[in-house]
Amino acid sequence: MNAPVMQAAVYDRYGPAAEVLRVAEVGRPEPGPGQVRVRMRLSGVNPTDWKSRAGATPRPIDGFQIPHHDGVGVIDAVGDGVDGGRVGQRVWTFLAAASSRFGTAAQWSVLPSRQAVPLPAGASDELGACLGVPAMTAHRCLFADGSVDGKNALVAGGAGAVGHFAIELAKFFGARVATTVSGPQKAELAKQAGADLVVNYRDAGAADQLRGLAAQMDRIVEVALGANLDLDLALSGPGTHIVAYAAEPHDPVLPVRKCMNANVALRFVLLYGVPAKDLDQAAVDISKALQGDALTELPILRFPLDQVAAAQEAVEAGAVGKVVIEIP
Ligand SMILES: NC(=O)c1ccc[n+]([C@@H]2O[C@H](COP(=O)([O-])OP(=O)(O)OC[C@H]3O[C@@H](n4cnc5c(N)ncnc54)[C@H](OP(=O)(O)O)[C@@H]3O)[C@@H](O)[C@H]2O)c1
Repeated sequence: MNAPVMQAAVYDRYGPAAEVLRVAEVGRPEPGPGQVRVRMRLSGVNPTDWKSRAGATPRPIDGFQIPHHDGVGVIDAVGDGVDGGRVGQRVWTFLAAASSRFGTAAQWSVLPSRQAVPLPAGASDELGACLGVPAMTAHRCLFADGSVDGKNALVAGGAGAVGHFAIELAKFFGARVATTVSGPQKAELAKQAGADLVVNYRDAGAADQLRGLAAQMDRIVEVALGANLDLDLALSGPGTHIVAYAAEPHDPVLPVRKCMNANVALRFVLLYGVPAKDLDQAAVDISKALQGDALTELPILRFPLDQVAAAQEAVEAGAVGKVVIEIP
């Protein structure tokens, strides 16, 4: 009997999306010990996916690589040591393609059981497919230095995927939230996410406007540290944690004296290196927020699997909203 196969987006070398990404038939994976197999419905695309495919941090490719960490689907098989009762659960995934060639842009993915998190009935497939990288990163940025209950948070770029979930998680867990955007369309998205104050960071008076929420922020979730450091320091003092999660084309020069004057703490986050126990706590908290109907979708841009290259190019071009791939 022939071994079962599946349709998958794959690349076997690094390079531009249109040159290296294709759809191929590959062997359907079996779940190993501690793993689940998920019949994927949607695969969510993040900037890290195109950066990995472009070879930003090259690592040997194990024959082929199926891209994407995030997605939604239904568990259809479990490996040794996993509760068989998980079969049939609708789940969202995180870090599916980390150290694995079986990402979510395929009919099936296999991943550690703890990285396939039950999705509450009220949450749409589209929301579930977009949680992994953005919501987990937002959680780490907000909570690595403790609770945000009763605190003031500034989220830079509140219409971005991480920024969106940072606003929603901060609000759900009791913070007051200001956010920055570059224009009216993104301001509307940030308001819909529940930000208490939305400010255009290009305005000369942005710092004064942000002081309308608080003279000093407790958390600053930062997507562009170099571009925004002066603004951030104007809103910082003892007790402020600026948490940067994105690299810019040029590394900033750190104004040490200004940072000392503010007694500010700087933290950096890279999801791939966050300790497992903190990722698990993030999944618990995200599940609570989902159950509380506190998380929402950004606008969704849908692509069929055979347009996986166009889907990644859309993310690379800075699409507003979230790009998802429909899995046949
Ligand atoms: N460290 C990690 O583990 C981690 C995890 C997730 C994402 N990331 C990285 O974080 C970045 C954002 O990811 P994403 O998925 O959220 O992307 P996204 O959905 O494209 O959002 C990025 C947002 O940042 C805004 N932005 C750009 N420059 C800004 C500035 N100077 N001030 C305020 N906002 C600014 C953009 O809007 P405007 O340009 O209109 O302002 C956009 O809304 C990417 O570089 C990604 O690779 C890192």
